[in-house]
Amino acid sequence: MVRAFSELQSQGHEQLCIFQRPEVGLTAIIAIHDSTLGPALGGCRMQQYDSFDEAVYDALRLAEGMTYKNSLAGLSIGGGKSVLIADRTMKQGRKELFLAFADCIESLNGRYITAEDMGTTVEDIGVLFTRTPHVAGKSPELGGGGDPAPHTARGVFDGIRACCERLRSTSNLAGVKVSIQGLGGVGLHLARLLVKEGVELVVADTRAERCRLAVDELGATVVDSEAIYSVETDVFSPCAVGATINQASIAQLACRVVAGAANNQLATPEDERRLKERGILYAPDFAINAGGVILCADESEEGGFTLSRVHERVAGIGKTVAKILSLSESSGKLAGQVAIDLAQERIAAAKAKRA
Ligand code: NAI
Repeated sequence: MVRAFSELQSQGHEQLCIFQRPEVGLTAIIAIHDSTLGPALGGCRMQQYDSFDEAVYDALRLAEGMTYKNSLAGLSIGGGKSVLIADRTMKQGRKELFLAFADCIESLNGRYITAEDMGTTVEDIGVLFTRTPHVAGKSPELGGGGDPAPHTARGVFDGIRACCERLRSTSNLAGVKVSIQGLGGVGLHLARLLVKEGVELVVADTRAERCRLAVDELGATVVDSEAIYSVETDVFSPCAVGATINQASIAQLACRVVAGAANNQLATPEDERRLKERGILYAPDFAINAGGVILCADESEEGGFTLSRVHERVAGIGKTVAKILSLSESSGKLAGQVAIDLAQERIAAAKAKRA
C-alpha cells in the first residue's frame, strides 16, 4: 500500500473506503478526492488488478481526475471513483455482488454517487438503484438520460472545432481532415457530426464491421489500426482506449491537433510535452470528453433530469477548450496544466466563499 498511501497524501484525497463482502466475493474501494463542489461523482470500474495496491492507486488517481473533469464542466459535483475487485467465481452471482456494493455506497449517505465505467453496465446500475438512490447514468425508464455517447461526441466535436479555429481563424470545418481511432459509441457519433460539416474522414477500428459502416454510411477512408497514427491529417481523434498517445505513437503522428474522447489518452504526463515539441496542439481529454458526465450529473439536479440543461452545459465544452488553448499559449504552460489550474481555481473560490 506504499504507492497508494503516498498518492493519497500528496494529492490531498478526502476519504478512502475499503469494503469487504466475502459472502459475495467482493472487495470494493471507494475514493473521494474532493467534495467542495458537491457529492463526489465518478464511475465504478470492475477489472482484474495485479495487486490490491494497484487497485487502490487506480481508484485514487481516477477520483482526482474526476474532480478536475467535474469542476471544469461547471458542475456542482465533486470527484470520486470506485473500483470493484470481484472473485472470478462471483460466488452468488453478479446481481448479488452489485446489491452488496449498493449497501457500501448507501453507507456513505450520498457523499459518493456511482455510475457505469469499464467492466460495468447500465444493467448493473439498475441493480444498484434498487438499493440506493446514489447512482447516475440510469436508463430513461429509471429517470436517467440514457446513453452518454452522443453527448460526449457532441462535446468532442465542439472541442475539435475550437482547436481548428485556433489554427485556421475560422470555425468552418469544410475541407478539414480528421482521423478517428475507434468507432464505438462515441467515435461513430463524432464521425457523423464531422461529415455533416464537410470534414474528410479517415478511420480505424479493430472491429471490421464498424469500419464498413463508416465507409458505407459516411464515405470514410479506412486504414489499418497501426497506420492511423501516421495518416497526414489536421486532427487526430483518439476515441478507442487510453494511453495510445505515447512516445512511439507521437513520433509517427502527422497531425496538427490531438483531440478525442478517450480517457487518459496520454501514456505519461511527459507525453504532452512531447506533443508540444512536435508543434501539435492538445485538447486535454478530461476537458473535451465531459459530455457523458454532464449527462450523468444532471440526474442529481433538483427537479430531476432535464435534457435542455444538458445540451446547454455540453455546449460550454467548446468554449472551455478554446479558453484552455488561449491561456496555454499566453502563459506558455501545457494545456493539461492550464485545465487543472482552472478546475482548482473554481474549487478554491467555492472554499473561500464558504469560509
Ligand atoms: P466503445 O467501447 O463503444 O468504443 C471503442 C471502440 O474502439 C470500439 O469500437 C473498439 O473496437 C475500438 N478499438 C479498441 N481498440 C482499438 C485500437 N487499438 N484501434 C482502433 N480501434 C480500437 O467506447 P466509447 O463509449 O465509444 O468510448 C470511447 C472512449 O472514450 C473510451 O476510451 C471511453 O473511456 C472514453 N469516454 C467515453 C465516454 C462515453 O460517453 N461513452 C465518456 C468519456 C470518455
